[in-house]
Amino acid sequence: MTDVNIAVLGAGVVGLTTALELQTQFRNARITILADKFKEDTTSFVAAGLFRPSPNFSGPNETITRKWINNSYHHWDTIRRTAEASLAGVTEISGYMFSSVSPSTVRNPYLEGLLPLYRTATKEELNLCPGDWKYGSFLTTVLIDCGVYLPWATNKYLATNGKIVPQTINTFTELTGKYDVVVNCTGFGAKYLCNDKKLVPIRGQVLKVHAPWVKTFFYGEYDTYIIPSFGAVTLGGCRQYESYNLNPCKYDALAIRERCEAMLPSLKSAPLVGQRIGLRPHRDVVRIEKEVITTENGRNLKVVHNYGHGGYGVTTAPGTSKYAVELVKEMLMGNSKL
Ligand SMILES: Cc1cc2nc3c(=O)[nH]c(=O)nc-3n(C[C@H](O)[C@H](O)[C@H](O)COP(=O)(O)OP(=O)(O)OC[C@H]3O[C@@H](n4cnc5c(N)ncnc54)[C@H](O)[C@@H]3O)c2cc1C
Ligand SMILES: *[C@@H]1O[C@H](CO)[C@@H](O)[C@H](O)[C@H]1NC(C)=O
Ligand SMILES: *[C@@H]1O[C@H](CO)[C@@H](O)[C@H](O)[C@H]1NC(C)=O
Ligand SMILES: *[C@@H]1O[C@H](CO)[C@@H](O)[C@H](O)[C@H]1NC(C)=O
Ligand SMILES: *[C@@H]1O[C@H](CO)[C@@H](O)[C@H](O)[C@H]1NC(C)=O
Repeated sequence: MTDVNIAVLGAGVVGLTTALELQTQFRNARITILADKFKEDTTSFVAAGLFRPSPNFSGPNETITRKWINNSYHHWDTIRRTAEASLAGVTEISGYMFSSVSPSTVRNPYLEGLLPLYRTATKEELNLCPGDWKYGSFLTTVLIDCGVYLPWATNKYLATNGKIVPQTINTFTELTGKYDVVVNCTGFGAKYLCNDKKLVPIRGQVLKVHAPWVKTFFYGEYDTYIIPSFGAVTLGGCRQYESYNLNPCKYDALAIRERCEAMLPSLKSAPLVGQRIGLRPHRDVVRIEKEVITTENGRNLKVVHNYGHGGYGVTTAPGTSKYAVELVKEMLMGNSKL
């Protein structure tokens, strides 16, 4: 299709991954990213970036959800196998999930069978970390460091004639007549733009420490995690529903350090190098849908929504973007069953 104008709202991991997918599916289209925050100012930058969808993560039905997760894993793993991997911020990583209360918290029906390695931890492995660990799993997955991925994806997009316009979108009216279809990847921003009451923030805070001796990740209870990434180790975390506080909380920071050091005492000597806070755009279910919006000026705007990925936007960006781009195709073919 030539002369098609497509806008992508948002330049987080979802917006950029969608824009790259559009470029591969619509070679002659004019694609524009409109966003008011980039790279280190996005929620995506805050993410630890581990590929680990929660068993609670859900799309419209299980078949579709599994397809998103499968496609996402293969997308990231394909990048991991290329010479570009380190430039894209994608790497392989292995680690443990431990629990002292329930075997189900260390299981993951989406990942078992998909990842190259997902097995029960041995008795000896349960003693790797102090604590009364009764259940454990060892798995090999991928990690995507958005601090590296977002700049890489931006450059790749720009090098393929992609256009980026820094802009805050306040109403849909300003988009009518300019674009044949708009893909809405605004994350939590969608709350205001779409007045979407189902979208709630789950606040998270993480610490970045210098601990190059830590090579594996560890997940414990109460959202405790230690995840080595490019250049630093991420210590987390917390999940605070309906909190809008984007300032660092010193009590959260103290609790995170205490919980992580209890699991891995060598972290006591790891200097703090950064602190990040973000609001996970949680929506039950993630919204990837077509909609024709009639704006105040009476004109129609074709929109494909792609937001509400919660704590799993890095994990699921490729699969959900592929799905969103299929919906874009349907809308442009004019066979949209709306
Ligand atoms: C502490 C923490 C740890 C996390 N760890 C992980 C993890 O290990 N694995 C994982 O998969 N996920 C993780 N996440 C979740 C992940 O960060 C999010 O799911 C993901 O970043 C959502 O991406 P997004 O592109 O939808 O949103 P964002 O990154 O927030 O991007 C939204 C974009 O939309 C733009 N925008 C919004 N409104 C407007 C507007 N009105 N006009 C113009 N532009 C607008 C913004 O400028 C921005 O560019 C974590 C999150 C937190 C907070
Ligand atoms: C998953 O869902 C269960 C039951 O609805 C809930 O108790 C639990 O807190 C959820 N976990 C996450 C990580 O959201
Ligand atoms: C899941 O949803 C898709 C799209 O709505 C539909 O085609 C498919 O039949 C559904 N699958 C199941 C198992 O419900
Ligand atoms: C998973 O995805 C890969 C590549 O995207 C595909 O070849 C494979 O058929 C998919 N498997 C399932 C079960 O969907
Ligand atoms: C994008 O989604 C958000 C979230 O619901 C919404 O507020 C906004 O109106 C949407 N924007 C467009 C252009 O559809």
